[in-house]
Amino acid sequence: MQSKTDIAADSFHPLRLQPARRIPSLADDARDGLLSTPRTLPPKYFYDERGSVLFDRICQTPEYYPTRSEAALLDQHAAEIIRRCRPGSILELGSGTSAKTRLLLQTWAEQSGGGRYWPFDVSEEMLLDAAASINHDFPQIAVTPLVGDYTGGLQGLPAMAEPNLTIFLGGTIGNFTHHEAVSFLSELADRMALEDHVLIGMDRHKDTGIIEAAYNDAEGLTALFNLNVLNVLNRELGADFDVEKFRHQAVYNVDGMRIEMYLIARQSMKVCLPALSTEFELEEGERILTEISRKFDDKSANALLVESGLELVQPFLSDNGYFSLVLARRRR
Ligand code: SAH
Ligand code: TRP
Repeated sequence: MQSKTDIAADSFHPLRLQPARRIPSLADDARDGLLSTPRTLPPKYFYDERGSVLFDRICQTPEYYPTRSEAALLDQHAAEIIRRCRPGSILELGSGTSAKTRLLLQTWAEQSGGGRYWPFDVSEEMLLDAAASINHDFPQIAVTPLVGDYTGGLQGLPAMAEPNLTIFLGGTIGNFTHHEAVSFLSELADRMALEDHVLIGMDRHKDTGIIEAAYNDAEGLTALFNLNVLNVLNRELGADFDVEKFRHQAVYNVDGMRIEMYLIARQSMKVCLPALSTEFELEEGERILTEISRKFDDKSANALLVESGLELVQPFLSDNGYFSLVLARRRR
């Protein structure tokens, strides 16, 4: 029997992006991250099927302000963004459910008849469902989903109708360190034509209580999301993490202007990693850093653009100052 996802895949023939450079395997990342100090894991492993569903639910919690703030900004400024960029194509990096993007697509279709939308994500099931649903709801917009890992480089992206508008929403740029974000945006800038634009969602530095609440929702969904990465390691690497022996912690590092997400060992334990033919010990209270989420002010946002070979066209700041959308182009 065909699942819904299979049907979507058949009708869309998603393009699989060829990485421009070698992408470390999960085993490589686990070895490099877990066996060193401080212990870390890359965030892309959160988004298996269960993780993607959990993330979607996090976005709907009352504490998680980024999604609502960014949706309000898109709603308010879609017309101006489309008017300025006049896109022939829209590429979305880390598109997820593409839910907020609909606000932009709607205006695009109405103002200029649309074009081709290229959602790009590592989480294939979610990507194909989103593509099918947008294809159904927006007859004027052609949809080609791209499956791949953007840490493997953007050089393999197909040619797109010009001018192109690339969007990177959700504050996901903040999940990179400054150095990683500069490499990533520089690669994007390198393949941009002068008439192209990029629209980046950046979460803003603000009161610690508001930020920490967003990553510690009362329903406990963020905790489940964070802990789920251990299920991924158990499944993919045959590891034997006892998820019950960990707890979620998210703390705002004010000086570093970043949320740091940890999994903390509730007790000392030994963990086997058969795929790496190794085991390691965790002490009670020891932490694994699973994600950072940087929060920007004008200075750090501008430094990121400038160092990446981009220039600011127009910033859009939400009324409460919580979140921003930054429209930029290749530096002249
Ligand atoms: N843009 C959506 C989703 C943000 S969550 C929103 O604003 O709500 C981050 C998204 O990036 C997830 O859908 C995840 O699957 C995707 N992602 C994370 N790492 C990725 C990678 N290395 N390559 C491609 N997509 C990635
Ligand atoms: N890009 C999102 C952010 O930084 C990802 C995210 C939200 C996240 N909540 C999370 C990642 C909880 C890990 C755990 O805001």
